Amino acid sequence: MPERLRNSPETVASNMNPVNDKMNRLLDKYLPKRKPLSLEDYDWDAMNSELTNPDLLKCLRFVAEVESNPQAPAKNLLKAADENGATWKRRFVEDGWLHEESMHGVLLRECAIRSGTPQELIDEEIEQVRAREFTIGENYSSLKADVYGWMQEATTWRFYQAMLNEAKDPVLRQVLIDIAKQENFHRHVYFEGAKTTLEHNPDAAKEVVDTVAEFIMPGQIMAPDLQQEAPRWAKKFNFSTRQLMREQASGLIELIGHEGLGESAIAYGVNNAPWYIKGPLAPLKKLDNARVYHLFGKLADSAVGKKK
Ligand SMILES: [Fe+2]
Ligand SMILES: [Fe+2]
Repeated sequence: MPERLRNSPETVASNMNPVNDKMNRLLDKYLPKRKPLSLEDYDWDAMNSELTNPDLLKCLRFVAEVESNPQAPAKNLLKAADENGATWKRRFVEDGWLHEESMHGVLLRECAIRSGTPQELIDEEIEQVRAREFTIGENYSSLKADVYGWMQEATTWRFYQAMLNEAKDPVLRQVLIDIAKQENFHRHVYFEGAKTTLEHNPDAAKEVVDTVAEFIMPGQIMAPDLQQEAPRWAKKFNFSTRQLMREQASGLIELIGHEGLGESAIAYGVNNAPWYIKGPLAPLKKLDNARVYHLFGKLADSAVGKKK
């Protein structure tokens, strides 16, 4: 096994200066051009009053609730940034990510209520989400936070696109399109953060492996009751786990190579692979396929909200 995967210290703060330089250049390029979303951007009166699709209605309530407390993950992201000297990440969270994520919850709540969700119900559940402890990433290094952010944003982006397969109302569609675009931007920044950190801290590759092996979606902690319905919604809305897993497998290979992908699978353990993951990963023949399939089967389950 390569040394970098076996024995790595947490990300080395002293190697963060070149990472901050490069990531700040990326933020200089993107942040000034970010256009914040707002309630005023949409013609709410044009929204069809009641959604006749009960699955989409309930799913809207679910995503509105999961998006209703970005301050909790932000706290963990900022701690990871500060403890590792990743000043670029504090800048990204404070000047970009948190503003954008805060509006997602607001817009989705508005969509849910205007589509027929009782306001008292969603507001009571949002209170519960905010009162829940958010444990994901509490002790993450900067690199782990980036890897987690990349995987989570990618999954969220693709999930909103799946909701678009189902949504007919033009206002709802525009909200989902706008939010999905922002999730894709977040995915890109976190992925670049992870890639740049690894370029300057190659010994930290095992942190990537560990993060992948323990990955779960925030909804499993934030809204566990509604999350139980997500696998059914994913199927009904044609959420493509194949596409997502193919993207995540190639992202992982870009970050830590084929050995890293194999190691991630080994870190998760060996078991039977679900059938639906074998096709997309067929090109990775040289690896221990059963393990890789199993890892991605688990990630696919997590993406659609099935418990391990
Ligand atoms: Fe979001
Ligand atoms: Fe996001």
